[in-house]
Formats: sequence, C-alpha cells, structure tokens
Amino acid sequence: MKYSGRYLSLTREELLERVHAQMSEKRFVHVLGVEKAAIALAEQYGEDIEKASIAALVHDYCKERPDTDFQSYIDKQLYPEAISQFGNEIWHGLVGADIIHDELGIADSDILNAVRHHTTGSANMSLLEQIIYVADYIEEGRDFPGVEEARQKARTDLVEAVAYETQKTLTYLVEKGVPIYPKTIETYNVWVAHLSK
Ligand SMILES: [Fe+2]
Ligand SMILES: [Fe+2]
Repeated sequence: MKYSGRYLSLTREELLERVHAQMSEKRFVHVLGVEKAAIALAEQYGEDIEKASIAALVHDYCKERPDTDFQSYIDKQLYPEAISQFGNEIWHGLVGADIIHDELGIADSDILNAVRHHTTGSANMSLLEQIIYVADYIEEGRDFPGVEEARQKARTDLVEAVAYETQKTLTYLVEKGVPIYPKTIETYNVWVAHLSK
C-alpha cells in the first residue's frame, strides 16, 4: 500500500522498519496480522484503509519499552491518577499513543486514540478505534478459546464483536485475580448493552 503522506511523513516501508526495530520477531508478526485484519474490517465497515494500516502498525510500538520510558511521560503529563499503579499492559496504549506522537510524528487524533484505547477500550469508540480493538483480538495468529466466535461476530456485526471482546477480557482479568484498570470497567458498562442475548 502506498501512503498519501496525510497522516505520516514516512512511507509504509519506512514505518515497517521503525516498528520492527522496536520489537521481537514474534510481536512483529502479530503486528502484521493486526494490520491485515484491520484492513479487512476497514474495507467491510467503510473506514479509511490507510488510517487502519497506520494505526495497526503502530499499536504495539511501545509494548517492549522499559518502564522508565513511560514513567518519564507519567511524571510530566496528565494521566488519570490510577495509571501509575498499573504497568506496561496499560501504559503501552494509553501512554504509548503520546510516545508515538512524539517519535513518529503522528498527529491524527483518531489514529492516536485507536492506539490509546486498543487494550482498555473506551466508552465512546470511533469506527477506527473499534476496528483496531477488534483486529488486535482476532488477528490470524491468535489462538484462544472464543477467538473463532469473536471472528464470526466481527464478520457480521462490529459493535457486537467489541461487546463480546470486552466481556471476555474483563472475565479473563477477574479470573486471573489481577486489578482492573478503571477504564476497562467503564468500557464494559457501556458496551455490555450490545452483547447478543
Ligand atoms: Fe497491545
Ligand atoms: Fe497487539
């Protein structure tokens, strides 16, 4: 795909190189899988393909960064107070979006929000945010109980797929006995209305 230059000054090839340099081979393969799934969803649901590609390629840009990189952002910028009690799982999206803005020069707020909310979701998600949230969950490399059902829902009703993933994620975290970031609960409370009964 050829990028227009509207959202990013890099070509797709240059972006791939920058992203690849940030992560293990395994994670890079995951990122490419998310891009493929995001483009398919963008085509199906009428989102800009280029935005879907860029957001997917950068969504885990900060997943392997040391905690100190996030800490310096958390110290100097305004984030919800609870954020410092959590770790990379929460930071690589919520704080990662700001790092991506600074390091890759991406200023489009829809792309940044898609990165920001790809793990926790959000009460109000744009079409692009929903696409990245779901693509991250269903990409072809994923293999866990329920993934086929999530893929099926994504093919027929994106909103229902968001709701399904949100319920599954919250259930998984509760069963694991780990603290839940408040935003994840906010997401659940709004999207639970869209679960198929
Ligand atoms: Fe992630
Ligand atoms: Fe991911």
